[in-house]
Formats: sequence, C-alpha cells, structure tokens
Amino acid sequence: MSDFSDKVVYQVYPKSFQDTNGDGFGDIPGVIERLDYLQDLGVDYLWLTPFFISPQRDNGYDVADYRNIDPKFGTMEDLERLVEQSAKHGIGLMLDMVFNHTSTQHEWFKRALEGEQKYQNYYIFKEGTPDQPPTNWQSKFGGPAWEYVPHLKKWYLRLYDVTQADLNWDNPQVREELKEILRFWKEKGIRAFRFDVINLVSKPEEMIDDCEGDGRRFYTDGPHIHEYLKEMVHDTGIENFVTVGEMSSTTLENCIKYSAPEEKELSMCFNFHHLKVDYKNGDKWALMPTDYKALKALFEKWQMGMQTGGGWNALFWCNHDQPRIVSRMGDEDTYWKESAKMLAGMIHLMRGTPYIYQGEEIGMLNAHYPSIDLYKDVESLNYYQILLKKGKTKQEALEILAARSRDNSRTPMQWDAEQYGGFSEVEPWLAMSAAFRPEITVAQQREDEDSILNFYKQLISVRKTYPVIAKGEISFIETGNNMILAYERKLGEQKIIVFCNLGKEKQEVAISDAWCDFKILLNNYAGREKISGEKSYIMKPYELLVLENEIQE
Ligand code: GLC
Ligand code: CA
Repeated sequence: MSDFSDKVVYQVYPKSFQDTNGDGFGDIPGVIERLDYLQDLGVDYLWLTPFFISPQRDNGYDVADYRNIDPKFGTMEDLERLVEQSAKHGIGLMLDMVFNHTSTQHEWFKRALEGEQKYQNYYIFKEGTPDQPPTNWQSKFGGPAWEYVPHLKKWYLRLYDVTQADLNWDNPQVREELKEILRFWKEKGIRAFRFDVINLVSKPEEMIDDCEGDGRRFYTDGPHIHEYLKEMVHDTGIENFVTVGEMSSTTLENCIKYSAPEEKELSMCFNFHHLKVDYKNGDKWALMPTDYKALKALFEKWQMGMQTGGGWNALFWCNHDQPRIVSRMGDEDTYWKESAKMLAGMIHLMRGTPYIYQGEEIGMLNAHYPSIDLYKDVESLNYYQILLKKGKTKQEALEILAARSRDNSRTPMQWDAEQYGGFSEVEPWLAMSAAFRPEITVAQQREDEDSILNFYKQLISVRKTYPVIAKGEISFIETGNNMILAYERKLGEQKIIVFCNLGKEKQEVAISDAWCDFKILLNNYAGREKISGEKSYIMKPYELLVLENEIQE
C-alpha cells in the first residue's frame, strides 16, 4: 500500500459548497471554481459526497444510477474537468460509493418490482403477510427496517429510508456489478474511494428477531465482511488507492483488520464512538452533556489499539451527518476561535489521517433554526415526529433537533458576508445557519493571520514538515484530569507533546523536566514562547499547547 500518512482529506458536500448557475444548489463547476482556495489550504484529497443520479430522498445517498451525474450537479464533462483541474492543483478526488443499498428508483429495484427473479435476488426480499415483518429490526432513520410490497407479497429490507433498499451481497452477481462500477470510475481517473456504511453489507444467513436491540448486532461487521472487502479490492485492483470505510457501530478488532496493510482491505476507517459521548444511554435523540472522561478513554483506546494492531484511523470531528464540533464541544461565543483551534489541533496531531469538513476550517456553527419548517433532512423530520409521539413538546423536539440534526452541517458554505454567504445569488436549497456572521467567512479569515482558517493551514503545513506527526508513535500522558487530554508523538529523536484543555475552566498541568528545552510549536493564545524552568503550567480556557524538541529529521 502506498504511503498516505502525510495526506489530508477535505470533504466537500457539493450541494452546499458553491452554486454557479443560480439555482440555489451547489454544483460541480462550483467545486472547480474553489480549487485555488483548496490548494492554498494545502489539502491533498477531496472527498465528494454522492452527486450521482438520485431522487435525493437522502441527499444522494439513494443512488438511482451509479454511472451518471445528477443534472442538478452538472454533467459528466464537468466531472471530467474537475478530475483534470484538481490534478493540476495537486489534489486527488475521492468518490463516495454507496454500496449497502440503492434507491428504489434504481433500474435493478424497478425490475425486481416488476417480478424479475434475477433482480429480486439483488435485494433482500422475504415472503410474508402484511401484518408480520420478517424480523423486528429497526431502521436507522426510525421505524421498522422492512417494507411490504403487496403485489409481490414480499417484504424488502431497508436499514435506512423506505426508498433505500439493501443490496444482497451474498449474491455474487451483485458483487460483480459493484466491482464494475468501481472499474468505471477508475477508468475516469479516480484514485480514491470512500465506502458508505460498508461494514453493514454482509447480512446473516438466518434473520431472527433481536430481543436486545434494533438488529444491528446481527449485520454489523457481518459474517463475510472481510472476505467481501478483500475480493472487491483485489478484483478491481484498488489496493494502492486511498480508501476509507465508514464503519457504523464497529469494533476495534474489526477496524484493525479493515485497515492493516497486510490484509489488503482498506487504507483506513471512520468510527463514531467518540461522537456518542453526549448521547444519553447511547440514544442520539436524548441530550446529555459531553462525558469527557469517556471521550479521553475512547481516543486512548482507538489510538493505542490501532497502533498496536497495525491499523490506521481516519481522524475527524465533522462530516455531513454530524453537528458542528464548535457548537458541540467548543464555545460559540467568547472562546469561539480558541476552541475551534484546540479541537482541530487535538485530532490533527494524533496518529491517523485528518479529515476537514467544509466550513470546519472557518469554525462554522450549527444551524440554530427557529422553526421545523427549515429542516430538510429525512432523518430529522422522521425523528421530529417520533419525538412528538413519545410525548415531547414541539419546543423540546426542536431543541433536540437543534443539537442533533444532520442539517447542522449541511447549511451553505460561508464564503463571504453577502446575504447567501457567497454560496449562491438566490435563496439556497437549505437555509443559511442563523449563526452566520462576518467573522465566520473565508473572506474575512483570509485577511486575518490569527484566524481559524490560517490555523488549519498551519496544521496541514506542520504535518508536511515534521514527519513525527505523520509517522511517529503515539502514547498518552496521564494527567489525572478529565478535562486535559495530553499525548506525546515520537519518531527517532523527534518529539512532540500536545496538551488540550477541553473546557472553559482554567486547568493546571504538571510540566516534566524532560521538556524544559522544548519550544512552543503551536499555541492558540498569543504571547508565550517557552515554558522552560516551570514545574506547572496554567492552561487557559480551551487552550492548545504543542511543544517540540527542535530536532528535525
Ligand atoms: C452514511 C452517510 C449518510 C447516509 C447513510 C445511508 O451514514 O454518511 O449520510 O444517510 O450512510 O446511506
Ligand atoms: Ca447550481
């Protein structure tokens, strides 16, 4: 596998990135327009969320045709131009392959509904009566995971929306079809892929009720998952591509296997455990303050575990499914800038490949929508109804959505202080964040040396100049304080020490004699240059302190 450890990936949600033809929808030409910006930021790969033909029930994660571009996003010529232009900017494209399910508008599913046995075998159909779903499994978007088709007298499995039918990976023909899609995009010059909820594709042969949960324990990291991944990667010759798997509710043991180079499965994995530390009893729709002790423990477990096992983590706080991290674990007002920088440094300096989600680099905040009418996401709208049914008031349900909705991350990119943030000339498909203000724009932060944007640039650039960040070993420093996360990176003689104050209160940390000659490499407060001679250090709110021993390789 090629070495990608010093690379940084930037995620574009094209629909909300840049509109160029005045329809309020972001498009592929919009991504091309912003390539100079991305090159200047210093990123190596662009992960584009799906722009394929789709009814957009789940914003493109419901694919109706994997080989064509949804006209709302542009044309195949636009995409080819993007491939060519991004290469000229030193940026590779990573396409998003949604292989767990297709839209029910996909040709295969339509033919299945018309009664063609061949295509029914592409999906997971079970005979039955309308009153009795095959199992009690629940959809991840709420409600039952099965849908009845009266004229066939059969149920089909759909772990997500009703219009997202799960594919039957046990059918070799399905696996061949998916490989053909990868080959198609490889031909177009694509050299990186992200695989959507890929650890859910191998379903158990026998499907039974889950008396303990929603069914996920039966199909998560399922029986043939490693075999299927190896086969797909081998048969399409993508072993040397940068590939990342989105792993839902996964385990460390499986992620080591998914990402250890000798297994020849994937380059790295996303896992979400660190983003559930504010879910009450594991329930996304029940609010709870962040459990910092758990957060620290999870980072330590995954960092140390993947290192020992030879796996590789994708490092991230934000994506198109997660609320904005500054709203979630930082501070939206007084310490907006400091907390955004601390949170960025905390993960960028760990062992793994960092991902930046559009707008994160300027500290964008949650949507703060005052009304349910502004939400568009299918999951949010489903859960709003579920919460009301469970007895929450409208106000309570809105507060939960305000904290948890996926629309929090999907609001238009804030390029400048114009009415629609320079994203579009017309009203965007999804409303701007109500927290949109001139400081939170690219235009303003470009001009400010001390901005969050420039801090992200610095993080990317130190990764390229200090090999210890990309290649060093990690170990955690015991601080005895839940609010301080600290670790050391080491490569030969080169060392980096990272201290993060996770909260608003000041915290005192002990300084080891061993660090007395270390220089301050990064700090989100101005003024200090050295810490020498001190036994302890008072960390300011959300402070990030990074020390380095000035030994270049
Ligand atoms: C992944 C995607 C999410 C989508 C789901 C179903 O979790 O990131 O946006 O809704 O898969 O495809
Ligand atoms: Ca457009």
